[in-house]
Amino acid sequence: MASANQKLQIIESVKDLQQVRKNISGSVGFVPTMGALHQGHSALLKKSVAENQFTFLSIFVNPTQFNQAEDLLKYPKTLEQDLRLAHDAGVSFVFIPNAQEIYQDQYRYKISESGLSEKFCGAYRPGHFTGVLTVVMKLLQLVKADRAYFGEKDFQQLQLIKDMVNTFFVPTEIIGVPTVRQDSGLALSSRNLRLSPSQLEVAAQFFKILSTEKENQVARQKLETLGFKVEYIENYENRRLAAAFLGEVRLIDNVPKI
Ligand code: PAF
Repeated sequence: MASANQKLQIIESVKDLQQVRKNISGSVGFVPTMGALHQGHSALLKKSVAENQFTFLSIFVNPTQFNQAEDLLKYPKTLEQDLRLAHDAGVSFVFIPNAQEIYQDQYRYKISESGLSEKFCGAYRPGHFTGVLTVVMKLLQLVKADRAYFGEKDFQQLQLIKDMVNTFFVPTEIIGVPTVRQDSGLALSSRNLRLSPSQLEVAAQFFKILSTEKENQVARQKLETLGFKVEYIENYENRRLAAAFLGEVRLIDNVPKI
């Protein structure tokens, strides 16, 4: 039987995960990630640790949600650092599966959505949300958490996951956690590791302009003048969502509508 104050345990196969999960009694929180963890992930993990007896973290760079081979290849990998951050946050179990096992069906079975997933990021990244929803559903089925935690930075992803869980009666509560930002305002993201120091300075303008310039069209022009390639800036419910490339790095963010 697992106890809440044991040290971090690494699990690498589905079978082991299922065995460990069977032996746990007590509330379970879950934070799915693709690794390259930063303080934004730390906030998710700490909330889960505070609200549950056990916290599972998964680290899996999910190939089906990348629509560019290059982006998948260049996705940062920092496992040793990730494990330290997980340990410091008080995580109980880290699940690090491999793609063969997660996709033993060769991705024949998928969860697709035909509304929100086709807009905003979905319009520019065909298949992205099908990959996200499919892997999240698989992980939720395995971890059987009471609560799962996702960053509000990926606002569209969070809405789709909440909706999927309601639609398929998955008994896990989905909890959104506010975006963690650098002092400059730039939202923390694993992809920021690929920005140069000078790009990092320019990247801070993404949040600043989105949160101060009222007109979407004017915000777009200001960003383009600074060298961003803007994909979209659009209002959705009470938020303003945006995505733009800075060099090769794609940034997304969302702010309250002004
Ligand atoms: O937000 C992410 O890191 C990923 O989309 C997720 C939810 C871990 C699924 O691969």
